[in-house]
Amino acid sequence: FQETLPSPPMRHIILIFSLISLVASDESSCTSSCSKTSIPQCGTWLSSERMKEVGGLYELGEGVMNVSCAFSSLPRPSSISWLHRPTSTSSWIPFTCSSKDDNIKCSTTAEQKTSSTCILRTSFLNMTGSYKCESKMDIDDSKASSSEVTISVVGIESVEIMDKSMKPGSTGFVEAKICANPQPEIWWSTGDGLVKPGQTLTNFASSHLAKSMERASPDGPASPLAYCYQVRLIVNNVRKGDSLSLLVRSHDGVSTTRIVSSSHTLYSFLSILLICSSLLL
Ligand SMILES: *[C@@H]1O[C@H](CO)[C@@H](O)[C@H](O)[C@H]1NC(C)=O
Ligand SMILES: *[C@@H]1O[C@H](CO)[C@@H](O)[C@H](O)[C@H]1NC(C)=O
Repeated sequence: FQETLPSPPMRHIILIFSLISLVASDESSCTSSCSKTSIPQCGTWLSSERMKEVGGLYELGEGVMNVSCAFSSLPRPSSISWLHRPTSTSSWIPFTCSSKDDNIKCSTTAEQKTSSTCILRTSFLNMTGSYKCESKMDIDDSKASSSEVTISVVGIESVEIMDKSMKPGSTGFVEAKICANPQPEIWWSTGDGLVKPGQTLTNFASSHLAKSMERASPDGPASPLAYCYQVRLIVNNVRKGDSLSLLVRSHDGVSTTRIVSSSHTLYSFLSILLICSSLLL
């Protein structure tokens, strides 16, 4: 009885066995050895990124944020996720990139390499804030993060007339809600001229621009709605035929919202007057 097995057949067995396991599962080709205490150590590390250099202002509806990060890991490839934080005091929440390109480079002898490119179209003001990516290992929960990039999405998202009452001969009002970043400048264009928030002009008075509030439940507390403002115009005596519109400016954007157009009778009266005067001249 011999203690040692003949070596050539044993090598064959090992070779065949490892070939089978390679074919049977992708795991073995994406696994290299590591240790908890000595080098090479198990874990994940940031290897490269494109984050900070894309920080700045992005146009609402037109901007495209293009960020990427790459990590090394042992023993297995890490999984990369993208996180957003609206303000520096809020918590990080996963978000969905407009499009994403993930890559894994496997190795049986060295570190695994994972990378992710995230393209985000800045279609909402609430995409303002900080972004980062995170690499995580399922095995031991070890993590690594990229640096953060901070962006601001600027422009006018919406101008809405929330409520109004414009009955000729009585007192009227218009309530408007504007969502814009940065805080917009607004003017009411009235029959008497332009009225700014906080101003009074003969027949018109405007409230100050205030943060729009929202309630999760009717009897719950109200909290300010990010990037949204509210303003109210009081019309002392609504005159028939007066036109009224709201002008909004934020960043480079300007918007005009017609609230009351001049009545047809006034237009026809004016055109008749014009025709008559041209005939007389
Ligand atoms: C994102 O940026 C990289 C590097 O600058 C570039 O190669 C890639 O084409 C960009 N992707 C898009 C969709 O703009
Ligand atoms: C961001 O704003 C859009 C449009 O107002 C809204 O549909 C979306 O739910 C908001 N997202 C978050 C995370 O608040």
